[in-house]
Amino acid sequence: MAPGNALPALPALLALLGALLPGSEGAQTSVSPPNATLARGGSVQVNCSSSCDQQATLGLETDLAKTEVARGNNWKAYELSNVHKDSKPLCFSTCRGEQTMAAAVLTVYWFPDQVELAPLPSWQPVGENLTLHCQVAGGAPRSHLTVVFLRGEEELNRQPVVGEPAEVTATVLVDRSDHGVNFSCRTELDLRPIQLGLFENTSAPHQLRTFVLPSTGLQLVTPRVLEMGTQETVVCFLGGLFPVSEAQVHLALGDRRLDPMSQIMYRGDSLTAKAVLEGRAEEEGSQQLTCAVMLGNQIVETRQSVTIYSFPAPNLTLSEPEVSEGTEVMVECQARAEAVVTLNGVPAGPPGPQVQFLLNASAEDNGRSFSCSAALEVAGQVLQKNQTRELRVLYGPWLDERDCPGNWTWKEGSQQTLRCQARGNPSPYLNCSREKDGALLPIGNLSCVTRNLSGTYVCRAISSRGELIREVSVTVLYSDHQNIVAIVVVTILATLGAVGSAAYVYNRQRKIKKYKLQEAQKATTMKLNTQATPP
Ligand SMILES: *[C@@H]1O[C@H](CO)[C@@H](O)[C@H](O)[C@H]1NC(C)=O
Ligand SMILES: *[C@@H]1O[C@H](CO)[C@@H](O)[C@H](O)[C@H]1NC(C)=O
Ligand SMILES: *[C@@H]1O[C@H](CO)[C@@H](O)[C@H](O)[C@H]1NC(C)=O
Ligand SMILES: *[C@@H]1O[C@H](CO)[C@@H](O)[C@H](O)[C@H]1NC(C)=O
Ligand SMILES: *[C@@H]1O[C@H](CO)[C@@H](O)[C@H](O)[C@H]1NC(C)=O
Repeated sequence: MAPGNALPALPALLALLGALLPGSEGAQTSVSPPNATLARGGSVQVNCSSSCDQQATLGLETDLAKTEVARGNNWKAYELSNVHKDSKPLCFSTCRGEQTMAAAVLTVYWFPDQVELAPLPSWQPVGENLTLHCQVAGGAPRSHLTVVFLRGEEELNRQPVVGEPAEVTATVLVDRSDHGVNFSCRTELDLRPIQLGLFENTSAPHQLRTFVLPSTGLQLVTPRVLEMGTQETVVCFLGGLFPVSEAQVHLALGDRRLDPMSQIMYRGDSLTAKAVLEGRAEEEGSQQLTCAVMLGNQIVETRQSVTIYSFPAPNLTLSEPEVSEGTEVMVECQARAEAVVTLNGVPAGPPGPQVQFLLNASAEDNGRSFSCSAALEVAGQVLQKNQTRELRVLYGPWLDERDCPGNWTWKEGSQQTLRCQARGNPSPYLNCSREKDGALLPIGNLSCVTRNLSGTYVCRAISSRGELIREVSVTVLYSDHQNIVAIVVVTILATLGAVGSAAYVYNRQRKIKKYKLQEAQKATTMKLNTQATPP
Protein backbone atom coordinates (compact mmCIF):
# COMPACT_ATOMS: atom_id res chain seq x y z
CA MET A 1 0.00 0.00 0.00
CA ALA A 2 2.04 2.99 -1.23
CA PRO A 3 1.04 6.22 0.50
CA GLY A 4 1.63 8.22 -2.72
CA ASN A 5 -0.48 11.25 -1.87
CA ALA A 6 -0.49 13.64 -4.78
CA LEU A 7 -2.99 16.10 -3.29
CA PRO A 8 -1.97 16.85 0.31
CA ALA A 9 -5.00 18.92 1.20
CA LEU A 10 -5.37 20.11 4.79
CA PRO A 11 -8.15 17.73 5.98
CA ALA A 12 -6.30 14.76 4.52
CA LEU A 13 -3.14 15.84 6.30
CA LEU A 14 -4.94 16.06 9.64
CA ALA A 15 -6.47 12.64 9.13
CA LEU A 16 -3.05 11.21 8.38
CA LEU A 17 -1.58 12.78 11.50
CA GLY A 18 -4.39 11.33 13.61
CA ALA A 19 -3.75 7.88 12.14
CA LEU A 20 0.01 7.93 12.35
CA LEU A 21 0.77 9.54 15.73
CA PRO A 22 -0.91 7.13 18.16
CA GLY A 23 -0.34 4.00 16.04
CA SER A 24 3.34 4.36 15.70
CA GLU A 25 3.73 0.92 17.15
CA GLY A 26 0.11 -0.21 16.57
CA ALA A 27 -2.02 -1.32 13.61
CA GLN A 28 -2.59 0.86 10.51
CA THR A 29 -5.68 1.56 8.37
CA SER A 30 -5.15 1.80 4.66
CA VAL A 31 -7.31 2.65 1.64
CA SER A 32 -7.06 1.61 -1.91
CA PRO A 33 -6.89 3.37 -4.22
CA PRO A 34 -5.66 6.35 -2.27
CA ASN A 35 -6.41 8.61 -5.33
CA ALA A 36 -9.00 8.19 -8.02
CA THR A 37 -10.18 10.44 -10.82
CA LEU A 38 -13.60 9.71 -12.19
CA ALA A 39 -16.16 11.29 -14.43
CA ARG A 40 -18.78 13.28 -12.62
CA GLY A 41 -21.69 11.10 -11.51
CA GLY A 42 -19.61 7.98 -11.86
CA SER A 43 -18.89 5.19 -9.40
CA VAL A 44 -15.72 3.92 -7.77
CA GLN A 45 -14.77 1.02 -5.54
CA VAL A 46 -12.82 1.75 -2.40
CA ASN A 47 -11.15 -0.91 -0.35
CA CYS A 48 -10.51 -0.31 3.34
CA SER A 49 -8.19 -2.62 5.22
CA SER A 50 -6.45 -2.87 8.59
CA SER A 51 -3.12 -4.36 9.56
CA CYS A 52 -4.52 -5.40 12.96
CA ASP A 53 -3.39 -8.83 14.20
CA GLN A 54 -6.86 -9.36 15.59
CA GLN A 55 -10.33 -8.81 14.21
CA ALA A 56 -10.59 -5.10 13.73
CA THR A 57 -13.72 -3.00 13.31
CA LEU A 58 -13.70 -1.47 9.79
CA GLY A 59 -15.80 1.28 8.35
CA LEU A 60 -15.95 4.01 5.68
CA GLU A 61 -17.10 7.48 6.50
CA THR A 62 -18.52 9.44 3.57
CA ASP A 63 -21.59 11.41 2.61
CA LEU A 64 -21.61 9.63 -0.73
CA ALA A 65 -24.02 6.81 -1.43
CA LYS A 66 -22.05 3.71 -0.47
CA THR A 67 -22.69 0.02 -0.72
CA GLU A 68 -20.55 -2.67 0.78
CA VAL A 69 -19.78 -4.96 -2.11
CA ALA A 70 -17.34 -7.40 -0.53
CA ARG A 71 -15.62 -8.14 2.75
CA GLY A 72 -12.89 -10.40 4.08
CA ASN A 73 -10.52 -10.67 6.96
CA ASN A 74 -9.83 -7.13 8.06
CA TRP A 75 -10.94 -5.60 4.77
CA LYS A 76 -14.12 -4.30 3.24
CA ALA A 77 -14.86 -3.11 -0.28
CA TYR A 78 -17.40 -0.38 -0.90
CA GLU A 79 -18.89 0.99 -4.07
CA LEU A 80 -19.37 4.74 -4.00
CA SER A 81 -21.82 5.85 -6.69
CA ASN A 82 -23.14 9.07 -8.18
CA VAL A 83 -19.96 10.93 -7.30
CA HIS A 84 -20.62 14.55 -8.26
CA LYS A 85 -17.85 16.40 -6.57
CA ASP A 86 -14.41 15.92 -5.17
CA SER A 87 -14.56 13.96 -1.99
CA LYS A 88 -12.35 12.29 0.65
CA PRO A 89 -14.02 9.19 2.03
CA LEU A 90 -12.32 8.16 5.25
CA CYS A 91 -11.53 4.50 6.04
CA PHE A 92 -11.29 3.87 9.75
CA SER A 93 -10.53 0.80 11.84
CA THR A 94 -10.36 0.03 15.55
CA CYS A 95 -7.70 -2.38 16.69
CA ARG A 96 -7.24 -3.11 20.39
CA GLY A 97 -9.40 -0.13 21.20
CA GLU A 98 -7.32 2.19 19.10
CA GLN A 99 -8.75 3.89 16.02
CA THR A 100 -6.76 4.77 12.93
CA MET A 101 -7.94 6.35 9.69
CA ALA A 102 -6.91 6.65 6.05
CA ALA A 103 -8.52 8.95 3.47
CA ALA A 104 -8.99 8.26 -0.20
CA VAL A 105 -8.91 11.30 -2.51
CA LEU A 106 -11.61 11.19 -5.20
CA THR A 107 -11.28 13.76 -7.96
CA VAL A 108 -14.23 14.31 -10.25
CA TYR A 109 -13.69 15.57 -13.77
CA TRP A 110 -16.28 17.11 -16.06
CA PHE A 111 -16.40 19.22 -19.16
CA PRO A 112 -17.49 22.81 -18.95
CA ASP A 113 -21.22 23.28 -19.43
CA GLN A 114 -20.70 26.48 -21.23
CA VAL A 115 -17.86 27.96 -23.28
CA GLU A 116 -18.85 31.24 -24.88
CA LEU A 117 -17.02 34.06 -26.54
CA ALA A 118 -18.75 37.31 -25.63
CA PRO A 119 -20.13 39.12 -28.68
CA LEU A 120 -17.61 41.30 -30.48
CA PRO A 121 -18.27 44.98 -31.13
CA SER A 122 -20.13 45.25 -34.44
CA TRP A 123 -17.20 47.22 -35.85
CA GLN A 124 -13.70 47.54 -34.51
CA PRO A 125 -11.39 50.28 -35.80
CA VAL A 126 -8.11 49.08 -37.26
CA GLY A 127 -5.17 49.86 -34.95
CA GLU A 128 -7.16 49.65 -31.74
CA ASN A 129 -7.03 46.96 -29.08
CA LEU A 130 -9.86 44.51 -28.92
CA THR A 131 -10.52 42.62 -25.70
CA LEU A 132 -11.92 39.15 -26.14
CA HIS A 133 -13.96 37.72 -23.28
CA CYS A 134 -14.46 34.01 -22.87
CA GLN A 135 -17.02 32.81 -20.38
CA VAL A 136 -16.55 29.35 -18.97
CA ALA A 137 -19.08 27.77 -16.64
CA GLY A 138 -18.30 24.48 -14.98
CA GLY A 139 -15.54 22.14 -15.87
CA ALA A 140 -13.19 20.39 -13.47
CA PRO A 141 -10.59 19.82 -12.33
CA ARG A 142 -9.64 23.41 -12.89
CA SER A 143 -5.99 22.64 -12.48
CA HIS A 144 -6.19 20.78 -15.75
CA LEU A 145 -8.46 23.24 -17.52
CA THR A 146 -7.11 25.91 -19.90
CA VAL A 147 -8.77 28.48 -22.16
CA VAL A 148 -7.32 29.01 -25.63
CA PHE A 149 -8.27 32.07 -27.72
CA LEU A 150 -8.42 31.45 -31.45
CA ARG A 151 -8.21 33.70 -34.49
CA GLY A 152 -9.60 31.41 -37.15
CA GLU A 153 -7.51 28.32 -36.48
CA GLU A 154 -4.58 30.23 -35.10
CA GLU A 155 -3.91 30.10 -31.36
CA LEU A 156 -3.60 33.56 -29.88
CA ASN A 157 -3.38 33.08 -26.16
CA ARG A 158 -3.71 30.42 -23.50
CA GLN A 159 -4.82 31.01 -19.92
CA PRO A 160 -5.92 29.15 -16.79
CA VAL A 161 -9.59 29.17 -15.82
CA VAL A 162 -10.18 30.92 -12.52
CA GLY A 163 -13.56 31.44 -10.82
CA GLU A 164 -16.96 29.98 -11.33
CA PRO A 165 -18.25 30.97 -13.74
CA ALA A 166 -14.92 32.17 -15.08
CA GLU A 167 -14.37 35.07 -17.41
CA VAL A 168 -11.06 34.92 -19.20
CA THR A 169 -9.90 37.84 -21.29
CA ALA A 170 -7.29 38.41 -23.99
CA THR A 171 -6.38 41.53 -25.88
CA VAL A 172 -5.51 41.69 -29.58
CA LEU A 173 -4.41 44.64 -31.73
CA VAL A 174 -6.76 44.66 -34.69
CA ASP A 175 -5.50 45.19 -38.23
CA ARG A 176 -7.03 45.04 -41.69
CA SER A 177 -6.36 41.34 -42.05
CA ASP A 178 -8.74 40.70 -39.15
CA HIS A 179 -11.70 41.83 -41.21
CA GLY A 180 -14.10 38.94 -41.68
CA VAL A 181 -12.07 36.60 -39.47
CA ASN A 182 -13.87 34.32 -36.98
CA PHE A 183 -12.72 34.55 -33.39
CA SER A 184 -13.55 31.88 -30.83
CA CYS A 185 -12.35 30.38 -27.55
CA ARG A 186 -11.84 26.79 -26.58
CA THR A 187 -11.38 24.97 -23.29
CA GLU A 188 -8.92 22.14 -22.98
CA LEU A 189 -9.33 19.63 -20.17
CA ASP A 190 -6.02 17.89 -20.31
CA LEU A 191 -6.28 14.53 -18.60
CA ARG A 192 -3.48 13.01 -20.61
CA PRO A 193 -1.21 12.70 -17.51
CA ILE A 194 -3.70 10.19 -16.11
CA GLN A 195 -4.25 8.55 -19.47
CA LEU A 196 -7.75 9.88 -19.96
CA GLY A 197 -7.02 12.10 -22.92
CA LEU A 198 -7.55 15.73 -23.98
CA PHE A 199 -11.08 17.07 -24.04
CA GLU A 200 -11.91 20.24 -25.97
CA ASN A 201 -15.01 22.39 -25.98
CA THR A 202 -15.15 25.29 -28.43
CA SER A 203 -17.37 28.37 -28.41
CA ALA A 204 -19.42 29.50 -31.37
CA PRO A 205 -17.34 31.71 -33.70
CA HIS A 206 -17.82 35.46 -33.90
CA GLN A 207 -16.88 37.27 -37.03
CA LEU A 208 -14.97 40.51 -36.59
CA ARG A 209 -15.54 43.51 -38.83
CA THR A 210 -12.81 46.10 -38.88
CA PHE A 211 -12.63 49.42 -40.70
CA VAL A 212 -10.57 52.50 -41.45
CA LEU A 213 -12.34 55.84 -41.79
CA PRO A 214 -9.82 58.69 -42.11
CA SER A 215 -10.88 61.72 -40.11
CA THR A 216 -9.33 64.16 -42.60
CA GLY A 217 -9.36 64.49 -46.35
CA LEU A 218 -13.08 64.63 -46.95
CA GLN A 219 -13.60 66.93 -49.91
CA LEU A 220 -16.82 68.57 -51.01
CA VAL A 221 -16.84 70.28 -54.41
CA THR A 222 -19.83 72.52 -54.88
CA PRO A 223 -20.63 75.86 -56.45
CA ARG A 224 -20.85 78.56 -53.80
CA VAL A 225 -23.82 80.15 -55.50
CA LEU A 226 -26.59 78.50 -57.44
CA GLU A 227 -29.27 80.19 -59.44
CA MET A 228 -32.80 79.22 -58.71
CA GLY A 229 -34.15 76.85 -61.32
CA THR A 230 -30.70 75.69 -62.44
CA GLN A 231 -28.80 72.53 -61.59
CA GLU A 232 -25.22 71.81 -60.68
CA THR A 233 -23.40 68.64 -59.78
CA VAL A 234 -21.84 68.42 -56.35
CA VAL A 235 -19.08 65.93 -55.63
CA CYS A 236 -17.98 64.44 -52.34
CA PHE A 237 -14.69 62.53 -52.16
CA LEU A 238 -12.80 60.58 -49.52
CA GLY A 239 -9.80 58.29 -49.89
CA GLY A 240 -8.07 55.79 -47.62
CA LEU A 241 -11.21 53.85 -46.70
CA PHE A 242 -11.34 50.22 -45.64
CA PRO A 243 -13.37 48.27 -46.55
CA VAL A 244 -14.43 50.90 -49.08
CA SER A 245 -17.47 49.02 -50.34
CA GLU A 246 -19.06 49.21 -46.89
CA ALA A 247 -18.89 53.01 -46.78
CA GLN A 248 -22.10 55.00 -47.01
CA VAL A 249 -22.53 58.60 -48.08
CA HIS A 250 -25.11 61.10 -47.07
CA LEU A 251 -25.41 64.33 -49.05
CA ALA A 252 -27.92 66.90 -47.94
CA LEU A 253 -28.81 70.52 -48.47
CA GLY A 254 -30.13 71.74 -45.17
CA ASP A 255 -32.46 68.94 -44.14
CA ARG A 256 -33.15 67.78 -47.64
CA ARG A 257 -31.33 64.64 -48.58
CA LEU A 258 -29.82 64.58 -52.07
CA ASP A 259 -29.03 60.89 -52.14
CA PRO A 260 -31.94 59.68 -54.27
CA MET A 261 -30.17 61.14 -57.30
CA SER A 262 -26.64 60.40 -56.25
CA GLN A 263 -24.34 57.75 -57.57
CA ILE A 264 -21.47 56.39 -55.51
CA MET A 265 -18.33 55.23 -57.25
CA TYR A 266 -15.68 53.15 -55.54
CA ARG A 267 -12.17 53.14 -56.92
CA GLY A 268 -9.26 51.63 -55.04
CA ASP A 269 -9.74 52.73 -51.47
CA SER A 270 -11.58 55.93 -52.35
CA LEU A 271 -15.15 56.88 -52.77
CA THR A 272 -16.76 59.56 -54.93
CA ALA A 273 -20.39 60.50 -54.58
CA LYS A 274 -22.13 62.80 -57.01
CA ALA A 275 -25.49 64.41 -56.68
CA VAL A 276 -27.46 66.92 -58.65
CA LEU A 277 -28.17 70.05 -56.71
CA GLU A 278 -31.03 72.12 -58.01
CA GLY A 279 -31.85 75.61 -56.90
CA ARG A 280 -35.33 75.47 -55.43
CA ALA A 281 -37.37 78.56 -54.77
CA GLU A 282 -38.19 77.55 -51.22
CA GLU A 283 -34.49 77.27 -50.46
CA GLU A 284 -33.50 80.79 -51.54
CA GLY A 285 -30.70 82.16 -49.40
CA SER A 286 -27.70 80.66 -47.71
CA GLN A 287 -27.91 76.91 -47.15
CA GLN A 288 -25.57 74.33 -45.68
CA LEU A 289 -24.53 71.52 -47.98
CA THR A 290 -23.38 68.54 -45.94
CA CYS A 291 -21.49 65.46 -46.98
CA ALA A 292 -21.15 62.71 -44.42
CA VAL A 293 -19.32 59.44 -44.92
CA MET A 294 -20.24 56.59 -42.61
CA LEU A 295 -18.20 53.47 -42.11
CA GLY A 296 -18.26 51.04 -39.23
CA ASN A 297 -19.68 52.91 -36.29
CA GLN A 298 -18.03 56.20 -37.20
CA ILE A 299 -18.93 59.17 -39.31
CA VAL A 300 -16.94 62.01 -40.86
CA GLU A 301 -18.63 65.09 -42.14
CA THR A 302 -17.91 68.31 -43.99
CA ARG A 303 -20.07 71.32 -44.72
CA GLN A 304 -20.08 74.15 -47.16
CA SER A 305 -22.48 77.00 -47.60
CA VAL A 306 -24.32 77.39 -50.89
CA THR A 307 -26.35 80.47 -51.65
CA ILE A 308 -29.41 79.93 -53.77
CA TYR A 309 -30.33 83.13 -55.55
CA SER A 310 -32.80 84.46 -58.00
CA PHE A 311 -31.52 86.88 -60.63
CA PRO A 312 -33.71 87.37 -63.67
CA ALA A 313 -32.09 89.03 -66.67
CA PRO A 314 -32.63 92.78 -66.75
CA ASN A 315 -35.71 93.92 -68.59
CA LEU A 316 -34.67 96.06 -71.53
CA THR A 317 -37.48 97.82 -73.33
CA LEU A 318 -37.76 100.19 -76.27
CA SER A 319 -40.86 102.37 -76.20
CA GLU A 320 -41.36 101.19 -79.77
CA PRO A 321 -39.23 98.57 -81.48
CA GLU A 322 -39.83 100.12 -84.92
CA VAL A 323 -40.05 103.86 -85.50
CA SER A 324 -39.83 106.36 -88.31
CA GLU A 325 -36.67 108.46 -88.39
CA GLY A 326 -36.95 111.58 -86.32
CA THR A 327 -39.15 109.92 -83.73
CA GLU A 328 -38.11 109.82 -80.10
CA VAL A 329 -37.56 106.40 -78.61
CA MET A 330 -37.30 105.66 -74.89
CA VAL A 331 -34.74 102.98 -74.07
CA GLU A 332 -35.19 101.67 -70.56
CA CYS A 333 -33.51 98.93 -68.56
CA GLN A 334 -34.69 97.64 -65.23
CA ALA A 335 -33.28 94.87 -63.00
CA ARG A 336 -34.04 93.56 -59.52
CA ALA A 337 -33.58 96.04 -56.70
CA GLU A 338 -30.06 95.07 -55.52
CA ALA A 339 -28.58 95.01 -59.02
CA VAL A 340 -26.64 97.70 -60.86
CA VAL A 341 -27.44 98.14 -64.54
CA THR A 342 -25.43 99.67 -67.36
CA LEU A 343 -26.66 100.36 -70.85
CA ASN A 344 -24.00 100.24 -73.52
CA GLY A 345 -23.35 103.42 -75.42
CA VAL A 346 -25.12 105.50 -72.83
CA PRO A 347 -23.24 107.72 -70.41
CA ALA A 348 -23.17 106.19 -66.94
CA GLY A 349 -25.54 107.73 -64.46
CA PRO A 350 -25.71 107.06 -60.74
CA PRO A 351 -25.45 103.28 -60.13
CA GLY A 352 -28.81 101.68 -59.58
CA PRO A 353 -31.21 99.04 -60.78
CA GLN A 354 -32.66 101.23 -63.51
CA VAL A 355 -31.39 103.31 -66.44
CA GLN A 356 -33.20 105.06 -69.26
CA PHE A 357 -32.52 107.43 -72.08
CA LEU A 358 -34.31 109.18 -74.88
CA LEU A 359 -33.11 108.78 -78.44
CA ASN A 360 -34.04 110.79 -81.54
CA ALA A 361 -34.01 107.90 -84.01
CA SER A 362 -32.02 108.49 -87.18
CA ALA A 363 -31.47 106.26 -90.18
CA GLU A 364 -28.06 105.31 -88.70
CA ASP A 365 -29.84 103.87 -85.68
CA ASN A 366 -31.55 101.26 -87.80
CA GLY A 367 -30.30 97.87 -86.62
CA ARG A 368 -28.56 99.40 -83.62
CA SER A 369 -28.60 97.01 -80.75
CA PHE A 370 -28.88 98.10 -77.17
CA SER A 371 -27.42 95.87 -74.56
CA CYS A 372 -28.19 96.20 -70.90
CA SER A 373 -26.03 94.45 -68.37
CA ALA A 374 -27.02 93.95 -64.74
CA ALA A 375 -24.54 93.05 -62.02
CA LEU A 376 -25.54 91.50 -58.72
CA GLU A 377 -23.32 90.50 -55.85
CA VAL A 378 -24.23 87.13 -54.32
CA ALA A 379 -22.13 85.66 -51.53
CA GLY A 380 -19.11 87.71 -52.57
CA GLN A 381 -19.40 86.86 -56.25
CA VAL A 382 -20.41 89.40 -58.85
CA LEU A 383 -22.86 87.84 -61.26
CA GLN A 384 -23.83 89.36 -64.56
CA LYS A 385 -26.87 89.08 -66.73
CA ASN A 386 -27.64 91.04 -69.83
CA GLN A 387 -30.24 91.57 -72.44
CA THR A 388 -30.10 92.94 -75.95
CA ARG A 389 -32.73 94.61 -78.11
CA GLU A 390 -32.47 95.89 -81.62
CA LEU A 391 -34.06 99.12 -82.87
CA ARG A 392 -35.47 99.33 -86.33
CA VAL A 393 -35.81 102.78 -87.88
CA LEU A 394 -37.97 103.34 -90.95
CA TYR A 395 -36.47 105.76 -93.51
CA GLY A 396 -36.09 106.43 -97.18
CA PRO A 397 -36.46 105.73 -99.93
CA TRP A 398 -33.13 107.38 -100.64
CA LEU A 399 -31.49 107.60 -104.05
CA ASP A 400 -28.75 110.22 -104.22
CA GLU A 401 -25.49 110.66 -106.16
CA ARG A 402 -23.80 108.13 -103.85
CA ASP A 403 -26.47 105.51 -104.45
CA CYS A 404 -26.89 106.10 -108.14
CA PRO A 405 -24.62 108.52 -110.12
CA GLY A 406 -26.68 110.70 -112.45
CA ASN A 407 -24.26 110.88 -115.39
CA TRP A 408 -22.60 107.92 -117.00
CA THR A 409 -20.28 108.45 -119.98
CA TRP A 410 -18.80 105.36 -121.51
CA LYS A 411 -17.00 104.29 -124.63
CA GLU A 412 -18.81 102.03 -126.93
CA GLY A 413 -17.60 98.40 -126.66
CA SER A 414 -16.09 98.83 -123.22
CA GLN A 415 -16.95 96.79 -120.13
CA GLN A 416 -18.67 98.71 -117.34
CA THR A 417 -20.59 98.30 -114.14
CA LEU A 418 -23.76 100.23 -113.77
CA ARG A 419 -24.27 100.82 -110.09
CA CYS A 420 -27.58 102.10 -108.93
CA GLN A 421 -29.25 101.10 -105.69
CA ALA A 422 -31.87 102.77 -103.59
CA ARG A 423 -31.62 102.78 -99.80
CA GLY A 424 -34.26 102.72 -97.13
CA ASN A 425 -36.11 100.68 -94.55
CA PRO A 426 -38.15 98.94 -95.78
CA SER A 427 -35.81 98.45 -98.71
CA PRO A 428 -37.22 100.24 -101.77
CA TYR A 429 -38.06 98.78 -105.15
CA LEU A 430 -36.06 100.46 -107.97
CA ASN A 431 -37.10 100.76 -111.60
CA CYS A 432 -35.27 102.84 -114.27
CA SER A 433 -36.80 103.26 -117.72
CA ARG A 434 -35.81 105.39 -120.70
CA GLU A 435 -37.90 108.44 -121.27
CA LYS A 436 -38.35 108.08 -125.00
CA ASP A 437 -39.17 104.38 -125.35
CA GLY A 438 -39.47 102.88 -121.86
CA ALA A 439 -36.40 100.61 -122.28
CA LEU A 440 -35.08 99.42 -118.93
CA LEU A 441 -31.66 100.43 -117.65
CA PRO A 442 -29.52 97.28 -117.31
CA ILE A 443 -28.15 97.66 -113.77
CA GLY A 444 -25.10 95.56 -112.96
CA ASN A 445 -22.24 94.35 -115.14
CA LEU A 446 -22.29 95.19 -118.83
CA SER A 447 -20.01 93.06 -120.91
CA CYS A 448 -20.17 95.38 -123.91
CA VAL A 449 -21.50 98.90 -124.03
CA THR A 450 -23.52 99.62 -127.15
CA ARG A 451 -24.51 103.01 -128.44
CA ASN A 452 -28.21 102.29 -128.27
CA LEU A 453 -27.91 102.30 -124.46
CA SER A 454 -27.69 106.08 -124.63
CA GLY A 455 -30.53 108.08 -123.34
CA THR A 456 -32.07 109.62 -120.29
CA TYR A 457 -33.62 107.23 -117.85
CA VAL A 458 -36.03 107.94 -115.07
CA CYS A 459 -35.31 105.93 -111.93
CA ARG A 460 -38.07 105.46 -109.36
CA ALA A 461 -37.33 104.20 -105.86
CA ILE A 462 -40.57 103.06 -104.26
CA SER A 463 -41.23 101.86 -100.73
CA SER A 464 -44.25 101.86 -98.49
CA ARG A 465 -42.90 105.17 -97.19
CA GLY A 466 -43.10 106.94 -100.57
CA GLU A 467 -41.53 107.40 -103.97
CA LEU A 468 -38.41 109.18 -105.20
CA ILE A 469 -37.44 110.02 -108.77
CA ARG A 470 -33.98 110.60 -110.19
CA GLU A 471 -32.83 111.05 -113.71
CA VAL A 472 -29.87 109.13 -114.98
CA SER A 473 -28.34 109.94 -118.31
CA VAL A 474 -26.15 107.53 -120.19
CA THR A 475 -23.86 108.78 -122.94
CA VAL A 476 -22.06 106.31 -125.19
CA LEU A 477 -19.10 107.70 -127.05
CA TYR A 478 -18.24 106.34 -130.46
CA SER A 479 -15.92 107.66 -133.18
CA ASP A 480 -16.78 107.63 -137.01
CA HIS A 481 -13.72 105.60 -137.84
CA GLN A 482 -15.73 102.81 -139.29
CA ASN A 483 -17.55 105.18 -141.59
CA ILE A 484 -14.29 106.48 -143.03
CA VAL A 485 -13.15 102.99 -143.65
CA ALA A 486 -16.51 102.27 -145.20
CA ILE A 487 -16.20 105.34 -147.44
CA VAL A 488 -12.68 104.37 -148.42
CA VAL A 489 -13.82 100.91 -149.19
CA VAL A 490 -16.79 102.20 -151.15
CA THR A 491 -14.56 104.65 -153.04
CA ILE A 492 -12.12 101.92 -153.86
CA LEU A 493 -14.91 99.65 -154.88
CA ALA A 494 -16.43 102.43 -156.97
CA THR A 495 -13.08 103.13 -158.65
CA LEU A 496 -12.53 99.48 -159.27
CA GLY A 497 -16.06 99.27 -160.58
CA ALA A 498 -15.49 102.17 -162.98
CA VAL A 499 -12.23 100.76 -164.29
CA GLY A 500 -13.84 97.40 -164.73
CA SER A 501 -16.74 98.84 -166.67
CA ALA A 502 -14.46 100.76 -169.00
CA ALA A 503 -12.47 97.63 -169.76
CA TYR A 504 -15.61 95.72 -170.42
CA VAL A 505 -17.03 98.27 -172.79
CA TYR A 506 -13.80 98.49 -174.76
CA ASN A 507 -13.62 94.74 -175.01
CA ARG A 508 -17.19 94.46 -176.12
CA GLN A 509 -16.69 97.08 -178.85
CA ARG A 510 -13.73 95.18 -180.12
CA LYS A 511 -15.70 91.93 -180.18
CA ILE A 512 -18.57 93.60 -182.09
CA LYS A 513 -16.19 94.96 -184.74
CA LYS A 514 -14.62 91.55 -185.15
CA TYR A 515 -18.05 89.94 -185.49
CA LYS A 516 -19.19 92.37 -188.10
CA LEU A 517 -16.05 91.59 -190.05
CA GLN A 518 -16.68 87.87 -189.83
CA GLU A 519 -20.28 88.34 -190.86
CA ALA A 520 -19.14 90.25 -193.88
CA GLN A 521 -16.63 87.55 -194.80
CA LYS A 522 -19.35 84.87 -194.32
CA ALA A 523 -21.74 86.66 -196.65
CA THR A 524 -19.06 86.89 -199.35
CA THR A 525 -18.23 83.18 -199.02
CA MET A 526 -21.92 82.15 -199.21
CA LYS A 527 -22.32 84.22 -202.26
CA LEU A 528 -19.39 82.43 -203.89
CA ASN A 529 -20.69 78.97 -202.77
CA THR A 530 -24.21 79.66 -204.17
CA GLN A 531 -22.76 80.52 -207.42
CA ALA A 532 -20.62 77.35 -207.61
CA THR A 533 -23.30 74.78 -206.65
CA PRO A 534 -26.27 74.63 -208.92
CA PRO A 535 -29.47 72.81 -207.51
C1 LIG B 1 -17.15 32.30 -39.72
O1 LIG B 1 -18.26 31.73 -39.14
C2 LIG B 1 -19.45 31.78 -39.86
C3 LIG B 1 -20.60 31.22 -39.05
O2 LIG B 1 -20.19 30.39 -38.10
C4 LIG B 1 -19.24 30.99 -41.13
O3 LIG B 1 -20.40 31.05 -41.92
C5 LIG B 1 -18.08 31.60 -41.90
O4 LIG B 1 -17.82 30.88 -43.07
C6 LIG B 1 -16.84 31.65 -41.03
N1 LIG B 1 -15.85 32.43 -41.75
C7 LIG B 1 -14.59 32.05 -41.88
C8 LIG B 1 -13.67 32.95 -42.61
O5 LIG B 1 -14.21 31.01 -41.42
C1 LIG C 1 -17.40 19.18 -24.50
O1 LIG C 1 -16.58 18.28 -25.25
C2 LIG C 1 -16.87 16.91 -25.00
C3 LIG C 1 -15.88 16.09 -25.79
O2 LIG C 1 -14.68 16.74 -25.92
C4 LIG C 1 -18.27 16.58 -25.40
O3 LIG C 1 -18.58 15.25 -25.12
C5 LIG C 1 -19.23 17.52 -24.63
O4 LIG C 1 -20.54 17.30 -25.02
C6 LIG C 1 -18.84 18.96 -24.85
N1 LIG C 1 -19.67 19.81 -23.98
C7 LIG C 1 -20.41 20.78 -24.51
C8 LIG C 1 -21.18 21.60 -23.55
O5 LIG C 1 -20.44 21.00 -25.70
C1 LIG D 1 -34.83 114.68 -84.52
O1 LIG D 1 -33.77 115.00 -85.37
C2 LIG D 1 -34.14 115.52 -86.58
C3 LIG D 1 -32.91 115.74 -87.45
O2 LIG D 1 -31.80 115.97 -86.69
C4 LIG D 1 -34.89 116.85 -86.33
O3 LIG D 1 -35.30 117.40 -87.53
C5 LIG D 1 -36.08 116.56 -85.43
O4 LIG D 1 -36.74 117.74 -85.09
C6 LIG D 1 -35.66 115.87 -84.17
N1 LIG D 1 -36.82 115.48 -83.47
C7 LIG D 1 -36.99 115.75 -82.20
C8 LIG D 1 -38.25 115.30 -81.61
O5 LIG D 1 -36.14 116.36 -81.56
C1 LIG E 1 -24.17 88.78 -72.09
O1 LIG E 1 -24.28 87.56 -71.40
C2 LIG E 1 -23.71 86.47 -72.05
C3 LIG E 1 -23.97 85.25 -71.24
O2 LIG E 1 -24.54 85.54 -70.06
C4 LIG E 1 -22.22 86.70 -72.26
O3 LIG E 1 -21.68 85.62 -72.98
C5 LIG E 1 -22.02 87.97 -73.02
O4 LIG E 1 -20.66 88.22 -73.15
C6 LIG E 1 -22.70 89.10 -72.33
N1 LIG E 1 -22.57 90.27 -73.13
C7 LIG E 1 -22.22 91.42 -72.63
C8 LIG E 1 -22.15 92.55 -73.57
O5 LIG E 1 -21.97 91.55 -71.46
C1 LIG F 1 -25.06 115.55 -116.30
O1 LIG F 1 -24.05 116.35 -116.87
C2 LIG F 1 -24.54 117.47 -117.58
C3 LIG F 1 -23.39 118.20 -118.25
O2 LIG F 1 -22.19 117.77 -117.82
C4 LIG F 1 -25.27 118.37 -116.62
O3 LIG F 1 -25.79 119.46 -117.30
C5 LIG F 1 -26.41 117.58 -115.95
O4 LIG F 1 -27.04 118.34 -115.00
C6 LIG F 1 -25.88 116.35 -115.36
N1 LIG F 1 -26.99 115.59 -114.91
C7 LIG F 1 -27.08 115.10 -113.68
C8 LIG F 1 -28.29 114.31 -113.40
O5 LIG F 1 -26.17 115.27 -112.85
